[in-house]
Amino acid sequence: MLRTKDILDEKDKRLRQISKEVIFPLSKEDIKNIELMEEYLVNSQIEEKAEKYHLRPGMGMAAIQIGVAKRYIVIVQEVEKGFDSYIVINPKIISNSTEMIYVEDGEGCLSINRECEGIVPRYARVTVEGYDIDGNKIKIRAREELAIAFQHEIDHLNGILFVDKIDPKNPYKDIDKYRPI
Ligand code: NI
Repeated sequence: MLRTKDILDEKDKRLRQISKEVIFPLSKEDIKNIELMEEYLVNSQIEEKAEKYHLRPGMGMAAIQIGVAKRYIVIVQEVEKGFDSYIVINPKIISNSTEMIYVEDGEGCLSINRECEGIVPRYARVTVEGYDIDGNKIKIRAREELAIAFQHEIDHLNGILFVDKIDPKNPYKDIDKYRPI
């Protein structure tokens, strides 16, 4: 099982790499990594497990965050009946809304262990194309929180962290252009 210490910190230069496209079939190691990432994200959102294993809560993870420079991401979203998991290999945003949003309480990242004030502009809706673990093509339409999660995780595959998108001199720049969620 993955623990918080297994997740790279923002100071780690590996997070700045551009991750490589995955060629199918996936290796056993990649399948195992995906399982571990999903397990961590689910456990981290269950209070008693998060406490027991000292897990920082998170909704998404990119492979590079555990030191694997390959293009796959896992997102786990809490829904009424439990959790929805999105596992996407070689994800790509193929379309987006013009409307932009931001997380009012501030975006978070498992690799960033500090408070970061400021606005991270994100598309309100995106369509993501990629592959499932068996190599079947998939297309996901995401909005609001889920859309932000996809943009955040795909950024990781390109070596980008959310803090890069905040203007340090003016962290609330153009606030009126975006809708808070
Ligand atoms: Ni992150």
